[in-house]
Amino acid sequence: MFGRTSSRSVATPSPLPDLRLIRCHACDQENSVDASNSVGSKFVTGLNTCRFANNGNTAKMTDDPDLESAYALETPEDNKRLYRNWAETYDSDFVEAKGFRFPALVAESYMNQGGHWPCLDVGCGTGAIAEHFPDDAVLDGLDISPEMLAVAERKSRYRALFEANLKEPLDLPSGIYAGFVSSGTFTHGHVGAEALPELIRVLAPGALAVHTVKADLWAELGFEETFEVMTGDGLITRPVTVAEQIYEDGSAPDGHQDDVGLIVSFRRL
Ligand SMILES: C[S@@+](CC[C@H](N)C(=O)[O-])C[C@H]1O[C@@H](n2cnc3c(N)ncnc32)[C@H](O)[C@@H]1O
Repeated sequence: MFGRTSSRSVATPSPLPDLRLIRCHACDQENSVDASNSVGSKFVTGLNTCRFANNGNTAKMTDDPDLESAYALETPEDNKRLYRNWAETYDSDFVEAKGFRFPALVAESYMNQGGHWPCLDVGCGTGAIAEHFPDDAVLDGLDISPEMLAVAERKSRYRALFEANLKEPLDLPSGIYAGFVSSGTFTHGHVGAEALPELIRVLAPGALAVHTVKADLWAELGFEETFEVMTGDGLITRPVTVAEQIYEDGSAPDGHQDDVGLIVSFRRL
């Protein structure tokens, strides 16, 4: 049997807190941080990223925006934060450096199928698709990120650009577009088939839609089921899908050399 030994705890004096105000990269708010001891502070030491900025998820996401960070997103607010930090370098360090093929493939497919104007670029980002359309294209762009839209605006390729969340009703009249295009938006952590009813609502009868879906997420993001219902209801033609490698050979982000996406095409009935 063990006896209880009595011991007197001796309090060791704790160092005075070294409180500093640091601006969080992700939520953009100043918060106080005890630089002498990060425990109990709102920050993850060394990252300048508030622990609450991503619903408590401290995974790398906004200090160094890249494909992995983008795939780790969960909410529209996460998307706004990530793309706010990525907007100025997205074209050079993703579209160009990684040989992102989707924008050119979507534009080419839309043109080859006789797509008309005006056309809505859904999740247009910095306007990568627009660069592959002819100069007389009449294109509007929609995105949740004002910073991405600001880069798109500088390219002077869009008739109008507006901020909107594809997971909510769109503030647009019905039947006003001859088509929509979208590249890279229907993927991990971004948007799924829940956006389709509103996008189809803004299409005129006969309008053409061409958009990508990350191939392995076809069912998970709800496309299989939603298209089944929509074709059954006579809203759209049966979608045609073409599988394409997402990145140029030799340029893909590490571990994504073999990533495949679907270029999906259908018409509004
Ligand atoms: C990978 S980027 C693709 C941008 C551009 N289409 C391209 O091909 O380069 C995905 C875009 O989807 C936008 N996005 C993510 N979630 C969104 C939402 N809920 N509503 C509207 N846009 C969203 C992001 O802001 C980002 O610009």
